[in-house]
Amino acid sequence: QLHGSITIVVFGASGDLAKKKTFPSLFGLYRNGFLPKDTRIIGYARTKMDRDDFVKRITQYMKIGDDPEIKKKLNSFLEITSYHAGKYDEEASWKDLAQYINKVEGNVEKKNRLFYVALPPSVFLDVASGVRGHCYSEGFINRIVIEKPFGKDLESSRELGRDIGKLFKEDEIYRIDHYLGKEMVKNLMTLRFANVFFGQVWDRRNIDNVQITFKEPFGTEGRGGYFDEFGIIRDVMQNHLLQVLSLVAMERPISTDAEAIRDEKVKVLKCIEPLKLEDALLGQYVRNGDKPGYKEDDSLSDKDTNCPTFAALVAHIHNERWEGVPFIMKAGKALNEAKVEIRIQFRNVSGNLFKNTPRNELVLRIQPSEAVYMKVNNKHPGLSYQTLQSDLDLTYHRRYSDLKIPDAYEALILDVLRGDHSNFVRDDELDAAWKIFTPILHEIEGKKILPKEYKYGSRGPDELDDFVRKYGYDRLGAN
Ligand code: BG6
Repeated sequence: QLHGSITIVVFGASGDLAKKKTFPSLFGLYRNGFLPKDTRIIGYARTKMDRDDFVKRITQYMKIGDDPEIKKKLNSFLEITSYHAGKYDEEASWKDLAQYINKVEGNVEKKNRLFYVALPPSVFLDVASGVRGHCYSEGFINRIVIEKPFGKDLESSRELGRDIGKLFKEDEIYRIDHYLGKEMVKNLMTLRFANVFFGQVWDRRNIDNVQITFKEPFGTEGRGGYFDEFGIIRDVMQNHLLQVLSLVAMERPISTDAEAIRDEKVKVLKCIEPLKLEDALLGQYVRNGDKPGYKEDDSLSDKDTNCPTFAALVAHIHNERWEGVPFIMKAGKALNEAKVEIRIQFRNVSGNLFKNTPRNELVLRIQPSEAVYMKVNNKHPGLSYQTLQSDLDLTYHRRYSDLKIPDAYEALILDVLRGDHSNFVRDDELDAAWKIFTPILHEIEGKKILPKEYKYGSRGPDELDDFVRKYGYDRLGAN
């Protein structure tokens, strides 16, 4: 636990992630009283900026409104926040930063420090070694938060892991996967293990298939340079969707302790067979009207790229609970809607007492509009005896009307301050995740597998419906 004082240094403070997520989340925590009393925040980046520029940049995405109370809080937040420019690969800059941190801290009793690295992987190691060599606070708490991508495959991830491991202890490292900070993802453990009826049906005897879907209605516009190096599989599947999958599929941890949870996640990941090309459908979006195709992105260097912007991949888990139940992960850019959800489709009801009873489905909508709903069969109200499928619906904004769901980053930064690793990726977990994905990624790249085309704004490649049906998913829900 952090007692009373902390200095938070945000590296990459002039970048996109910092302005969109890190600083607004820090302010969110501050205004709700979740930052330790004695907190100082330092933004650090290469760009030279004066105070006004810095303030303008970091407040751009904060939702302040006209409330004078919030404005007052913003002013006091800005009083504890400052900016310092310097390089990432130059000794003199690091010395300078160390001095600056000491100056800002003055004579606080506890020099606890949190280093938030909101930077691309190319400079990541420079920063980690600069921090270790110059800004590490001996005898106090030091925590370093890092963002994906953690390597590009098993080998590069291990190499990065070894390099970081030389600088920081595992319990000082917080690998962020921001999906683990999302409300509905955090709710998965509660739903599964605090309800007797979910626990009873959560297995191969009752569940036919599981689908985890990630859909975005926009393309890679402007991010093509980054995206083309990674593709949809590395961008959201090896991390976000696999994390969700492991929380759906893991056994009950012995406690809610971070290590107990992560032990179970690692265990289930190790039961997943590496993904195979024959269990995959890849897509790349093409122009639709005035919406440009992926290959038209100006930031792309390889116009002939086979990089998938859509993928459906099926994971098979070989254990007693899940043998034979396909876990279908689907993710795509430039689709018809914004939606992330988990859809658990149950088996058909035995016997034929009622005709045409569709399967039960449990849907956990992660975004937009968090919800848990269950498709159940009900007698048609009135004189009819026909069955009618209806939703048992727990839509959050309707049920919890005053609720403000915090941004995922807000929740995760609070976890870091509390020293809780439950929602962060452990080194062996990352290793297990890469083992599942590396062979198929190498095959797609090595054999230059061509993705199927789909139109910007469509549901994905035309082959998608047949693909999911092959794994038992019943789109109409009828028997
Ligand atoms: C990021 C990916 O990790 O997650 C992006 O790099 C993606 O490509 C984003 O858009 C999605 O996050 P969210 O929270 O908007 O669903």
